[in-house]
Amino acid sequence: MARILLGCGASAALHKACDLASKLTQEEHRVRTVLTERAASLIDPQLFEAMTGEGAWTDEFGPERRTAMDHIELAGWAEALVIAPASADLVSRLALGLANDLVTTAALAVPAGIPRLLAPAMNAHMLSAPAIQRNLDTLREDGWRILEPDEGYLACGVEGKGRLPDVERIQAALAELLG
Ligand SMILES: Cc1cc2nc3c(=O)[nH]c(=O)nc-3n(C[C@H](O)[C@H](O)[C@H](O)COP(=O)(O)O)c2cc1C
Repeated sequence: MARILLGCGASAALHKACDLASKLTQEEHRVRTVLTERAASLIDPQLFEAMTGEGAWTDEFGPERRTAMDHIELAGWAEALVIAPASADLVSRLALGLANDLVTTAALAVPAGIPRLLAPAMNAHMLSAPAIQRNLDTLREDGWRILEPDEGYLACGVEGKGRLPDVERIQAALAELLG
């Protein structure tokens, strides 16, 4: 059983992240969630707290701060890092090594050797855009395991590749990474 840091971007697939947090908790993992501000505007972090019995964070400044430096605390706590769903913007920020919110700052502060899994979810054209493919390749080179998105109905109303994989596939990939 592992301490899993779950990072979530602002995607229509966020409801699946909530299910993922619940399923991982049922597998007796400990799951702490960090959501981008926009993700937290789509789904209430409190729901992740309810699913996991652990904290959910969006910001480490001001009244939301829980320790002296939440990004260091969370990164040091994690035995695995899972970013699901990863929006196009979040993929790109991680590939660039930006640290402009709590998700990217904590991800950057996770020590080398900790398993990292990223599950992109986006519109098919966004996914096939050269910039996004380039950024996913960069993350692979940096040691991230990238889960290939599924094909099918996308929340934007079209069929194509870009769906967040089923929770079971994310769980299986994580189990493989954790050995
Ligand atoms: C309802 C809604 C659903 C969205 N779904 C996605 C998505 O699945 N993938 C994506 O890359 N962007 C999606 N977007 C756009 C992103 O939220 C936007 O680009 C945002 O800046 C992503 O940054 P963040 O994930 O760092 O918060 C969506 C926006 C809205 C309003």
